[in-house]
Amino acid sequence: MTQINVAEILAKGKVLQEITINGWVRTFRSNRFIALNDGSTIHNIQCVIDFENTPEEILKRITTGAAICVKGILAESQGKGQSVEIQVAEIEILGDSNADEYPIQPKKHSFEFLRENAHLRVRTNTFSAVMRVRSKLSFAVHKYFQENGFNYVNTPIVTGSDAEGAGEMFRVTSFEDNKAPVTEEGKIDYSKDFFGKETNLTVSGQLEAETYAMGLGKVYTFGPTFRAENSNTTRHLAEFWMIEPEVAFMDLDGNMDLAEDFIKNVLGDVLENCKDDLEFLDQRLSQEEKSKPQAERSEMGLIEKLKFVTENNFKRVSYTEAIDILRNSKPNKKKKFQYLINEWGADLQSEHERYLVEKHFKCPVILFDYPANIKAFYMRLNEDGKTVRAMDVLFPGIGEMVGGAQREERYDVLLEKMKAMNIDEKELWWYLDLRKFGTAVHAGFGLGFERLVQFTTGMANIRDVIPFPRTPQNAEF
Ligand code: 4AD
Ligand code: MG
Repeated sequence: MTQINVAEILAKGKVLQEITINGWVRTFRSNRFIALNDGSTIHNIQCVIDFENTPEEILKRITTGAAICVKGILAESQGKGQSVEIQVAEIEILGDSNADEYPIQPKKHSFEFLRENAHLRVRTNTFSAVMRVRSKLSFAVHKYFQENGFNYVNTPIVTGSDAEGAGEMFRVTSFEDNKAPVTEEGKIDYSKDFFGKETNLTVSGQLEAETYAMGLGKVYTFGPTFRAENSNTTRHLAEFWMIEPEVAFMDLDGNMDLAEDFIKNVLGDVLENCKDDLEFLDQRLSQEEKSKPQAERSEMGLIEKLKFVTENNFKRVSYTEAIDILRNSKPNKKKKFQYLINEWGADLQSEHERYLVEKHFKCPVILFDYPANIKAFYMRLNEDGKTVRAMDVLFPGIGEMVGGAQREERYDVLLEKMKAMNIDEKELWWYLDLRKFGTAVHAGFGLGFERLVQFTTGMANIRDVIPFPRTPQNAEF
């Protein structure tokens, strides 16, 4: 007998073929019909039991969540809802599931409840679809870069440098509780710690990626990133995965082209390769939208939205233009924004980003040339002396998907900027070295992978697109 999975059976199974299949029972009705799922596809396969010849003992153990092995013949289905089914000859219970205790019942559960059962939630339709799409998306990310001449670089997770200079880092230490040695000034003496210096979990691989771009030309990272900010939003995680391409001899225009082409490409890839899961998620989302008031409902379905992004140009708008639009906008004039936009130089909050994307332009927007003092030290200063070559890609429903910049490649300008922003030049001696030895125009960006998965799957909360979310007060599992 051949051992194949449900996806293969539905794609190319032949009637009368003998089949052995393992999976988990989703439902069992009329003591006859098992809906079996093995994770290979959103679809279950119906297994029909000859209940008169199946011992009562076995029938009782076919419960939701149980792992079973079924042997039988593939047949054209007699009933509605599926084209083929398995007529079961033999059934073996591999792992029982106590129906009274199993949390994942065949009914609608709230996402909050499922988060508490994150070890089991992948057995639901929604989470299995999301996680299959996540997997395909991550493959598409590698495929895009590998096919376009980029080298995959693994930057360190434990780092002695702070890329964003924002101080939202998780400390890494091997000092035991209350036993950390202190200096004469009474501060913790990190020179005696494991690495001989203060170390943290990385907030971005960018600075190290830059060193590799200046030798390999085109590189990308794709790895875990950590931020200790106390953000309890639907778009923030304390541990998330970031994709960071970095390219030598590329300026900000090239960077915007790369970000747009990259996003369109990976979305195009999943539209092609995750049809069943996206259709399911599309329907799920439209059900959810129906429960919202008319005014808040999305104008487009999920697949429609993904196609819209792949088929239309992102709107490129300078920070200065954006401020003009916001200053004259209705919510600003009617004082509906929590943070009113009065003058050039204001940092944009997510309410402003969402207004631009969702109300004004109604498409992804790339904002560029931000005021220098609201952006990181490494961004290239423009001729005007007050803006930097920064870019953010903003997405409907998500807000900031990408943050990037053309980097400051001029040694003197960078050094001055670091001094002004209190960045320790001794810590970043190696970063400054890049500007001393063969410096070149270069640029890159960071894309939060979970935000991309959120957009692709239509999930409202970022905690529902990563297997085990890490957020303030929560590191279960
Ligand atoms: O804008 P950010 O902070 O940029 C950087 O870290 C740069 N060093 C990247 C670079 O140029 N190589 O972060 C980049 C992206 C954001 O646009 C957002 O999508 C995501 O990372 N991100 C988060 N995603 C989930 N949870 C968080 N707490 C995130 N913080 C940032
Ligand atoms: Mg940012």
